[in-house]
Amino acid sequence: MRTVHVDLGRRSYNIHVGGGLLDTLGELVEPGSWKKALVVTDANVRALHGGCLLESLERLVSSVELFEIATGESSKNPDTALELIDAMVRFGLTRADVVVAFGGGVVGDLAGFAASIYKRGVACLQVPTTLMSQVDSAIGGKTGVNLPAGKNLVGSFHQPVAVVCDVRALATLPAREFRSGLAEVVKYALIGPADRVAALEELAPGLRAGEAGEEELVDIVSECACDKAAVVAADEFDTGMRAILNYGHTLGHALETGTGYEGVYSHGEAVAVGMVFAAIVSERLDAGPRGMADVYRGLLSSLGLPTAPFQPVPDFDVMLRAMAHDKKSTGQLTMVLLENGKPVARDGLDADMLARCFKELGDPR
Ligand SMILES: NC(=O)c1ccc[n+]([C@@H]2O[C@H](COP(=O)([O-])OP(=O)(O)OC[C@H]3O[C@@H](n4cnc5c(N)ncnc54)[C@H](O)[C@@H]3O)[C@@H](O)[C@H]2O)c1
Ligand SMILES: [Zn+2]
Repeated sequence: MRTVHVDLGRRSYNIHVGGGLLDTLGELVEPGSWKKALVVTDANVRALHGGCLLESLERLVSSVELFEIATGESSKNPDTALELIDAMVRFGLTRADVVVAFGGGVVGDLAGFAASIYKRGVACLQVPTTLMSQVDSAIGGKTGVNLPAGKNLVGSFHQPVAVVCDVRALATLPAREFRSGLAEVVKYALIGPADRVAALEELAPGLRAGEAGEEELVDIVSECACDKAAVVAADEFDTGMRAILNYGHTLGHALETGTGYEGVYSHGEAVAVGMVFAAIVSERLDAGPRGMADVYRGLLSSLGLPTAPFQPVPDFDVMLRAMAHDKKSTGQLTMVLLENGKPVARDGLDADMLARCFKELGDPR
């Protein structure tokens, strides 16, 4: 097992990464930390892994309740958050208790948000079960729900008390969900030291075939957790350098918005195309080395991720508007680019130049 510390003063916590941790949760948490636990999960995760976690928790606290949501992004809404808060009231949850977010990013964001506002904040233990949530969403304290007007429009910063990543849970993940998480793994490698890309290239065939061993998965997840922990510790409230985690996400989010979040792209697929776009823009502005986009294409394809938009391609003007209104943007066209191998947010990008770069992504699939 690996443990990564997130250094945030009084809000510091550990991320534990290992195989079989759902069974041994009790060994990771100090006995007597909480009285009761409310587990928030979705139907898939409950059916596949619920038994394991509940048994572990029952050894740790005096009483456990379950709140199950329907699977999918549509559960991440204010009504479901209020239903969850109602369940907290019925269960008599107090600040001596804990909310356990057990599932992917949807469960993590929703449960974290409800835990942050119920009684002005109760403890939230994140137990992520998708690759996406283990390497990204469960770490860092960003919580929230969607509104009809946009994704994550209501939310809070509420750091978890700990994050427990059991890589064995990933064995049941559908291949497309696993690949979606791999796009974030690629992102960390690309914005990290140069040797990370070579290491990932070597692992790619096994990862693509779903044959990665437990040790490899622990290495990958803990390395990404370490990267995210460092960025979060440096910029907890996302006022500066945390923006680098948005690498590939400007176009990625625009592709998701432009296709109406209809599942045309998984988040990771959109980010994969967005990273190739960022490489093309970096090359065009002489910020990155020649051939950068081809290196990205090679790595992403070897992991089964797309490198060009899907048909039908949303209108580029619609996407430009989405890029300018990206939550993290100030209304100008801003993107994270790689300059001399380091991620930097660049403002005031020219719309025509971006349109030419978009064409260079190649023929839509
Ligand atoms: N808070 C943050 O910092 C942050 C960062 C990135 C993404 N997010 C959010 O995360 C969400 C996406 O997360 P996600 O990709 O984990 O999606 P998700 O939570 O919808 O999970 C994807 C699918 O996998 C299923 N699943 C989960 N674990 C499984 C397992 N072990 N075996 C089999 N099936 C399993 C789920 O039931 C679901 O159908 C989005 O809402 C996004 O906005 C948040
Ligand atoms: Zn992402």
